[in-house]
Amino acid sequence: MPASDPHGDIAKRKADHLAITAEGRGAYTRPTLLDDVHLVHAALPELAESEIDLRTTLLGRTIAAPLMVTGMTGGTEEAAAINRQLAVAAAQLGLPFGLGSQRAMVLRPELTFTYEVKKEAPEVFLLANFGVVQLSAMTSQAVRDVLDRVGADALCVHLNPGQELAQPGGDRDFRGCLATIARLVGELGRPVLVKETGCGISPAVARALDAAGVGAIDVSGAGGTSWIAVEAQRATGAEAERGELFREWGIPTGAAIGWLGTSGLRADLVASGGIRTGLDAARALALGARVVGVAQPALRAVRAGGSEGARQYLAGLIDGIRVACLLTGTRRASDLVRAPRIIGTELATWLGQRPL
Ligand code: FNR
Repeated sequence: MPASDPHGDIAKRKADHLAITAEGRGAYTRPTLLDDVHLVHAALPELAESEIDLRTTLLGRTIAAPLMVTGMTGGTEEAAAINRQLAVAAAQLGLPFGLGSQRAMVLRPELTFTYEVKKEAPEVFLLANFGVVQLSAMTSQAVRDVLDRVGADALCVHLNPGQELAQPGGDRDFRGCLATIARLVGELGRPVLVKETGCGISPAVARALDAAGVGAIDVSGAGGTSWIAVEAQRATGAEAERGELFREWGIPTGAAIGWLGTSGLRADLVASGGIRTGLDAARALALGARVVGVAQPALRAVRAGGSEGARQYLAGLIDGIRVACLLTGTRRASDLVRAPRIIGTELATWLGQRPL
């Protein structure tokens, strides 16, 4: 174990994360509330399927469909294969792909190869990934060097205080994170996306990020993978108790995206956290997301069927968005936000009591 990784072996943690999440043992039992979005059927769509336009932009770059694979892994042989295969699948479909946290490669530069996907997927829109607390200890130049070493086009900064608090040896001091983000936005020279990892982004946090100038915000809300639940399974003692108590903590993805989708943010809005089907995706787009993101189901698909399995899964999601567009009479996926809908009781309650 390297001296700079005093709290445990990163490789073991990464392997545990892949196994626990892929087996569905880290899932929330509460819903995303996206099922409460009932898009209204248009029996006369007056559209051809071939006319449906799914293209959009994320961080100023055109992408083929409003979908991305969000950051998951790196640092081990298994992670290297997963990153390469997912990046190839994303590139084939013209979608962005996010690497997992690159802390491992900063601690151990010989692990850089586990994040090097551009050799096999040179065209992929690649997002680097760091936790915000880790970034606070790095100069902007050091971060830029990491991006350059893997050919990343943008930086994804993850916020995960819930996960850290349930992780033995995890971070306990979250002061100064907003200043770190503002510094990187000003100095990095690459677009910055800020995401949660499953507990959601509130309106107040989104406003602060928007004011700091971030290019995109991924709400990564509750209802899919619960990182507090994942860590609870690895922890013992106090952290395990914390993890069990807070395993369902977070803002449901449907509520977070519903709040932010109508709040006039400059940042591009990404909806992830429990997106599993093309219909989930269409519902999140209807609530105001520009792009939706998936993590755990893409991991499952790549583990079961390699790059082709992941490509088929992602293509299925895109197809679901296309069908939802047609059946609501919506020609452009970016116009789903105007599609007629009925909002069910629980989501309506959350949206009706939007916090300041
Ligand atoms: C993640 N996620 C994640 N996010 C991040 O920003 N950096 C990371 O290193 C990781 N690591 C990671 C590993 C694995 C195995 C999974 C499944 C997920 C979080 C991920 O990007 C996403 O925000 C959440 O998992 C919610 O989406 P799903 O899983 O419900 O689709």
